[in-house]
Amino acid sequence: MARDLIHDNLNISSENHLMMAGVDTLSLAKEYGTPLYVLDEDKLRRNCREYIQAMKAAFGDKGAVAYAGKALSIKALYPIINEEGLYADVVSQGEIYTALAGGFPGEKMIFHGVNKTPDEIAFALDKGVGIFVVDNEEELCLLDSAAVAKGIQQKILVRITLGIDPHTFEEVKTGKIDSQFGAGVETGMAKELVAKALEKQNLQVMGFHSHIGSQIAEVKPFLDQVDKIVSFVKYMKDELGFTPEILNLGGGFAIRYTEEDPAVDVEANIKALGERLLDQLSSQGIQLPQVILEPGRSIVGDAGLTLYTVGRVKVIPGYRTHVIVDGGMTDNPRFALYGAKYTVVNAGKAAEAPDTVCTIPGRCCESGDRIGEDIKVFDPQVGDILAVLSTGAYNYSMASNYNRVPRPAMVMLKNGSPRLVVKRETLDDLIANDL
Ligand code: LLP
Repeated sequence: MARDLIHDNLNISSENHLMMAGVDTLSLAKEYGTPLYVLDEDKLRRNCREYIQAMKAAFGDKGAVAYAGKALSIKALYPIINEEGLYADVVSQGEIYTALAGGFPGEKMIFHGVNKTPDEIAFALDKGVGIFVVDNEEELCLLDSAAVAKGIQQKILVRITLGIDPHTFEEVKTGKIDSQFGAGVETGMAKELVAKALEKQNLQVMGFHSHIGSQIAEVKPFLDQVDKIVSFVKYMKDELGFTPEILNLGGGFAIRYTEEDPAVDVEANIKALGERLLDQLSSQGIQLPQVILEPGRSIVGDAGLTLYTVGRVKVIPGYRTHVIVDGGMTDNPRFALYGAKYTVVNAGKAAEAPDTVCTIPGRCCESGDRIGEDIKVFDPQVGDILAVLSTGAYNYSMASNYNRVPRPAMVMLKNGSPRLVVKRETLDDLIANDL
């Protein structure tokens, strides 16, 4: 029985090998070694275009998309994001530096962060970062002083928290009222922050930012977000005489990790969100501002997979079968952190229906080091190459050197050929900063 490979860029060769974008994953493992992150450039570009087109259809010239680099920030990605016409959401000096190194213009960056340091603020101002998303009052004051000192007029958005619970992993909710992010509408902190921002001579308040969470499969939380943000817009107009030129609604659309996950229709979601926003704004007599969405996961997540080699198969009769791979929580900490679920394909026997329920531990000295538990894989044997699907987002960007494991290499596939975009770390890289 042919199996559901979840993503449209994956198929199976006549030799029964898993293919991504027409490239044999077994050959990739052979050529570049494992663990190996693989990214499909064409899929990535299709994802960008789907967003851009849907935002154009919903909002005309007022629709824009910013790629959230926290999902994956590497030099090779930024020329693609730039060519496809997206802005970039950056959250640290490191992400700004990476984007600049990838030729991405500072003015198309939107700088987030709950605790931007004075050094980061100065760096971002010097590099001409287009928009700061100001999270709190301390930042507002630090940024304004730095802008005054440098004689810069800096555009900002004020990050507000709407109190929406999108039913996702507790750790990835950011829009709840008690979150560390942004200023709460309900508590009055949002109004206060906007009022203070409007007084700052060197800051130009362009509007508001809100992000409600991540891996959200339903459209309802986004519609609630629209309703709440429009009432805040109306409130700010009435109270402070301020009308936004930009509304940034953050990211959060889910992708498929397993067969059970529903497919999210980006176009339909944006259409629904657009209709709701236009409707709400016009009923309040407010003009449509520029509307920005900030997806990360749904741009890169399903464009990536990770290849591992099985090193040990440990069958514990009556308990479980451990299929131990040469990576794990160091390159993908999402099971350890969130209990996240994945689909795993035995890449050399890809067409076979998965028959063995296994736990897939990584190589670290830690019992929680797993790619997953109770995952069905076909006949896993030592030496087999396993492909873990949907790993383009929040894998490499969250990787570590725990147990002094070097981080894997990454290849990008385009027109049927791979190119190395991240080198495998060496032992010397591991001790490079040790004195
Ligand atoms: N904008 C802001 C302000 C955000 O905080 C985030 C994600 C995004 C955009 C992009 O959201 P996305 O479209 O990727 O859902 N490490 C977690 C995800 C944390 C997301 C944090 N913020 C995970 O591995 O599931």
